Amino acid sequence: NLDKINMVIQTDQRKAKINKNIYGHFAEHLGRCIYEGIWVGKDSPIPNTEGIRNDVIQALKAINIPVLRWPGGCFADEYHWKDGIGPYEERPGMVNTHWGGYVENNHFGTHEFLMLCELIGTEPYICGNVGSGTVLEMQQWVEYMTYDGKSPMADLRRKHGRDEPWKIPYFGVGNENWSCGGNMRPEYYANEFRKYATYVKNYGENQLYKIACGPSDADYTWTEVVMKLAGKHMDGLSMHHYSMSEGNTLPNSATQFEPADWFTTLKQAWFMEELIRKHSAIMDEYDPDKRVGLIVDEWGTWFDVEPGTHPRFLFQQNTLRDALVAGINLNLFNNHCDRIQMANIAQTVNVLQAIILTEGEKMILTPTYHVFDMFKVHQGAELLLVDFSNQEYRFEDEKLPQLSVSSSIDAENKLHLTLCNLHHNESIEISCEIEDFQPAGVMGTLLTASALNAHNTFEQPEAIKPVDFQGAVLNDGKLSLILPPASILLLTLEGS
Ligand code: AHR
Repeated sequence: NLDKINMVIQTDQRKAKINKNIYGHFAEHLGRCIYEGIWVGKDSPIPNTEGIRNDVIQALKAINIPVLRWPGGCFADEYHWKDGIGPYEERPGMVNTHWGGYVENNHFGTHEFLMLCELIGTEPYICGNVGSGTVLEMQQWVEYMTYDGKSPMADLRRKHGRDEPWKIPYFGVGNENWSCGGNMRPEYYANEFRKYATYVKNYGENQLYKIACGPSDADYTWTEVVMKLAGKHMDGLSMHHYSMSEGNTLPNSATQFEPADWFTTLKQAWFMEELIRKHSAIMDEYDPDKRVGLIVDEWGTWFDVEPGTHPRFLFQQNTLRDALVAGINLNLFNNHCDRIQMANIAQTVNVLQAIILTEGEKMILTPTYHVFDMFKVHQGAELLLVDFSNQEYRFEDEKLPQLSVSSSIDAENKLHLTLCNLHHNESIEISCEIEDFQPAGVMGTLLTASALNAHNTFEQPEAIKPVDFQGAVLNDGKLSLILPPASILLLTLEGS
């Protein structure tokens, strides 16, 4: 007696193009993300390219990361870029006050970050310092990176070994300026944004997409005020929302949890839908043509750090539950791609909902990495309308939709369907009609496990990984399948 869902995909209803940047990432100078996780230095015994780990380069390239945000986070509003250029022995150290108070040596700076982007084929999204920096400092950073001809900053860049300017498509004017980025009120930030953004210039052919600091979670007042006072001056407005397992039965552990914690974490993930809808509605008042993108540049799970690790290094394990959170969010971003123009999961390596974990020379891929690998087919494809009435996932007195889904069609006429069954122990039967599309065949990839807390470790790096799924059947062009509990499925149908 399985619950059954009948769905219809309408291939003639192409809603919008899914911006590839929805599949973006975020790497901050926090804990072991940059140092150890990405940067080991040229003299390290760990195989590297100019100081950047080769295993991490390969893993990041494989999932087509479109955009990478750096250097923070809270770190961005205390980062002074000039300390991170020039000969290593001459770079001054700095105290990372937000993340553990340790002194970092500034060896990973502008040149190293932009080299990383080149090595993995990704576009940089740089976040500038509004909290403790100056307008001049921000202006000079942009000049340093993008000025083509002769100028004081371009000449300094050349002196440090880079002749050609870099292409910098995305620039954030501050981070969380309502908190770690200066504890500002929205009216004050809106004015600061207008002032700083004025001096963030386009040099030569470089066109900057300027992103303003947006709200935390359900702070609708922030969105209202900043859109009203500064909406015309920005290209994007950022928003942050983390999924935590609040009100849980155990400490907020990444790996030791009960079905109740599973449910509350997924509920937090699904809350993203309400946030997108409500913030978008406010943006619609000031920007009805949807010129300004909603940029979810921090999202993911936030649990207790692993026992014995530094409390401010935010190092957590990553289980099947994280994979579901990733699948739910990515489906939501796809489905709202008329307004969501970028999203950046926090964070790439060794921090929060990491896609990669490292320990010395060892590296493992987390279940979240596999979700990004599966969902990458949606990058740049056209979103399709999926019509269905959802089943309820009930837990005690609460309920959630049981199925998360999005579908797209790409330039090669391949139709992709990504489905997540949120229920911790019940399957769903799915039957799906596809209008105006003759499928020649179907291929499936499934990510699930028998334990909700299944995760990869350095001893067992492949405890959870995607497998081929043969359970989708095509009959007269109609698709049917049973989606196991706690699972994520990618189906690809080739048009005949
Ligand atoms: O991602 C960790 C931190 O979370 C970021 O530095 C900050 O922007 C947010 O509060």
